[in-house]
Amino acid sequence: GADGRATWFPGGELNSCYLALDQHVEAGRGDATALIYDSPITYQTRTYTFAELADAVARFASVLASLAVGKGDRVVIYMPMIPEAVIGMLATARIGAIHSVVFGGFAPKELAARIDDAEPKAILSASCGIEFDRVIPYKPLLDEALELAAFKVPHCVICQRPEARAPLKAPRDLDWQQAAAAAQPAPWTPVAAEDPLYILYTSGTTGKPKGVVRDNGGHAVALVYSMSAIYDVAPGDVFWAASDVGWVVGHSYIVYAPLFRGCATVLYEGKPVRTPDAGAFWRVISDHKVNLLFAAPTAFRAIRKEDPKGELCRQYNLGSLRRIFVAGERTDPATYEWLAELLQVPIIDHWWQTETGWPIAASPTGLEDLPRKPGSVSLPVPGYDVQILTPEGKPAAANEEGDVVVKLPLPPGCLPSIWGDDQRFQSAYLAAHPGFYHTGDGGYLDEDGYLYVMGRTDDVINVAGHRLSTGAMEESIAAHPAVAEAAVVGVAHPEKGQAPVGLVVLKDGVNIKPAAFQKELAALVRKDIGAFANYKQTVLLERLPKTRSGKILRQAIRGLADGKPVPTPATIDDPAILDEVAAALKDAGVSQQ
Ligand code: COA
Ligand code: AMP
Repeated sequence: GADGRATWFPGGELNSCYLALDQHVEAGRGDATALIYDSPITYQTRTYTFAELADAVARFASVLASLAVGKGDRVVIYMPMIPEAVIGMLATARIGAIHSVVFGGFAPKELAARIDDAEPKAILSASCGIEFDRVIPYKPLLDEALELAAFKVPHCVICQRPEARAPLKAPRDLDWQQAAAAAQPAPWTPVAAEDPLYILYTSGTTGKPKGVVRDNGGHAVALVYSMSAIYDVAPGDVFWAASDVGWVVGHSYIVYAPLFRGCATVLYEGKPVRTPDAGAFWRVISDHKVNLLFAAPTAFRAIRKEDPKGELCRQYNLGSLRRIFVAGERTDPATYEWLAELLQVPIIDHWWQTETGWPIAASPTGLEDLPRKPGSVSLPVPGYDVQILTPEGKPAAANEEGDVVVKLPLPPGCLPSIWGDDQRFQSAYLAAHPGFYHTGDGGYLDEDGYLYVMGRTDDVINVAGHRLSTGAMEESIAAHPAVAEAAVVGVAHPEKGQAPVGLVVLKDGVNIKPAAFQKELAALVRKDIGAFANYKQTVLLERLPKTRSGKILRQAIRGLADGKPVPTPATIDDPAILDEVAAALKDAGVSQQ
């Protein structure tokens, strides 16, 4: 279009479920392995061939159809890492409906916000999830979300797990296994290339999540291309993305891309450590002859902390492993070196976001002779014209840090818009630098065109590979009766990459006990957002740095928390406050300098 935005493959028709499953069965590969479910926490492994998975998906598609879910309708999926989560996603795609998977760690309030935005015809869930050895009943969380949501969802389909069965409320709730057993396989429905395949909510700078829309056609083309151009895997290879279906990595590289390519995908319901030990990843690689592992650096930091010498690694045969890809956050050099030394396979750092759905920058396969540079995510992937702009919108020089942007149009697979809010798509991504997509990351290109991503320049933080909005946490803690105002920033954390810290100004005259107060704020974030936000630390201040018009100077606070020298913003009300904040952060042990 005139604004540089792209619609990919207009006029084309396809079905993403057909591409993931039926096409392989039709090509005679029905007996090849499609899905390997490995669950150390429930002591089981289960595999599905393409024919078996296609059958389960086709049957579940007719369960959805029987609930009046049709083309363009939304289905919210709030599930742990079990095969039914994948079956639910693909069944939704099969009938041309739109799935919206919500990470199972989100609290009811966040789930409710997504339900109200997506207005689903049905919700798919399970009776419980399991975190290490702790059974987390999901049904009470789902019921609470349904109470909180203004939108009334007509049906829930609940997969009963033996670890904790859930009481069902007829006629709204259906038992997954019973419904699926009675269903006949449903055919796939052709959809237009630009029809949405899914909505995936991600954290923006405000508390309201952004519904990233993914189309069917561009997505399929981009993912299939990535499997050969970036990951270099062939049909029959075993691909393991150690993520969660609730995140974009799970959508693209647990579910769609490996299946499109005819690979076997590993669905791992466990952790890098304590399920049962720090050898868990190596055990999975060896048991299933994994060829390619994709994981967040945080997972390797956790393994390294418990097994610094890599002794558990040496107990397994990792001969099948060809490469490891890392993404989701910056990889610290120490972890990179440790992993490369231990495994003796290429470790490839690559950079992408929920919005793009596939890598923006990576080290391309077939060009192994190109030097790899530590700390760099290598080169822009074909399709992305990555540039660095100064805040004023001027091209930055080589090695000069600025906003990392992509010249429009974005390649196939990237978001065409925000669900139901084109205005927000414009303002969040396109307004800052006209003609460019603004990634929200800062960084630079060196003289050879290698990209270095230095971190977010907005209020998004990355905790243990999980993307979170500090704005949402601020809304949570501001609800405490003693809090006058609050700012939450991310600070460097040795294991989690970043952790949130709250800077709080108390209301005049209130009396609090600091230790109890910190716990109360932590409990608020846990209840509103989820435990995975890891909100633990609060620093009390007399006042926050503000502009003369009363806006909190978040960027300055972020800089101070990182222990960086912060230039005095021209709009600041009282420059002396920067020293006060710096001193308070230092006293609290938040910043190092
Ligand atoms: N459902 C419910 N609770 C969850 C959850 C989920 N899906 N995921 C995390 N939580 C909870 C945890 O149980 C923990 O609760 P606690 O505070 O009561 O102990 C809390 O959230 C913090 O979780 P986390 O930060 O993940 O720490 P951890 O000690 O439980 O686990 C790791 C540490 C390293 C094992 C874990 O962070 C990990 O596996 N990280 C990798 C993440 C990843 O792969 N991201 C991929 C994105 S591409
Ligand atoms: P998400 O949308 O959850 O995938 O998070 C995307 C954000 O994670 C990006 O905007 C980056 O800030 C960060 N990120 C992802 N991959 C990398 C990487 N390889 N190096 C540095 N940061 C990364």
